[in-house]
Amino acid sequence: MQEENKRVTRLLASGPAGIAQAAAILRAGGLVALPTETVYGLGGLAANPRAVAAIYRAKGRPSFNPLIAHVADLAAARREGVFDARAERLAKAFWPGPLTLILPLAPGASVCDLARAGLDSVALRVPDNALTRGVIAAAGGPVAAPSANLSGHVSPSTPAHVLADLDGRIDAVLNGGACPVGVESTIVSLLDGAPRLLRPGGVSRVEIERVLGERLGGAQAGSELGAVLAPGMLASHYAPRAAMRLDALQLEEGEAGLDFGGRFSGVSERVLDLSPGGDLAEAAANLFSMLRALDAGGVQRIAVAPIPEADLGEAINDRLRRAAAPRG
Ligand code: TXA
Ligand code: MG
Repeated sequence: MQEENKRVTRLLASGPAGIAQAAAILRAGGLVALPTETVYGLGGLAANPRAVAAIYRAKGRPSFNPLIAHVADLAAARREGVFDARAERLAKAFWPGPLTLILPLAPGASVCDLARAGLDSVALRVPDNALTRGVIAAAGGPVAAPSANLSGHVSPSTPAHVLADLDGRIDAVLNGGACPVGVESTIVSLLDGAPRLLRPGGVSRVEIERVLGERLGGAQAGSELGAVLAPGMLASHYAPRAAMRLDALQLEEGEAGLDFGGRFSGVSERVLDLSPGGDLAEAAANLFSMLRALDAGGVQRIAVAPIPEADLGEAINDRLRRAAAPRG
């Protein structure tokens, strides 16, 4: 491990003092894990290439994978990306909230090349977390923040998850408690006329299509273009240690169960139910914590009950398929 990775990671209290401390660390080029409504992000000033490089290093993330720039409001976003009518409509409908827009880079934008992995587009979102918007405003510029986990690990939805992966590798974690949405933001590209869904997430496809009044195209996954446009969508991105078996109708010998709607109830003690009542928002909020908890039990395989593809189910199933993908 490199020298700069050996440091004491502070837990900053929720509130004005914590906001000020987090902003001061960011202004000095340091790294702070910040709460958002989706998952914790590992923040560094997006205009500072050294801070951005430190993010990639702390995560062990391949540097070709571009980062989302988090801004405090729509006005700040307009300084970084070129907003057309569709972008304005989506931003007004869903910000602050779990939607990331991929837009052409604005002239004079501050997000550095490294944060964009050299692309001439930028990923922007306004997170629905007042603490973090306060930090961004006080830091004085967009904050680049990928999920605050080691590259390839499960995304963190509590400060404890962040520390499990990054303790000693980053300067601080701002304590915002558990993230209510629990899966990452939906990513929509508005680069080439037709809007395209690059990653399903906290805002469902249907809600976005309703606001746009048109259908979203796909990510062209598997094509070279798809790989370049959303490199984070490559397989085996959310990998627990255990093997995964999806759409399991019952538990097999030796498996732990990730349940939905009480299908496995009473069968084994090694079962956690994403939502006993079958609520997809509750299931999304529990997804990463429960995957981690089952994985920590040291089982060989986790069987996952079928989850409907509707609404947030699309994002949940996307993350589960990635977790189940053959390990690279
Ligand atoms: O909810 C979220 O989006 C969380 C919180 C922290 O905001 N962040 C997050 O970031 O999930 P990350 O880095 O894990 O995922 C960002 C995704 C990656 O798949 C990346 O390839 C894609 O956004 N991305 C970023 N900039 C892009 C661009 N210019 N064009 C296409 N995809 C881009
Ligand atoms: Mg991630």
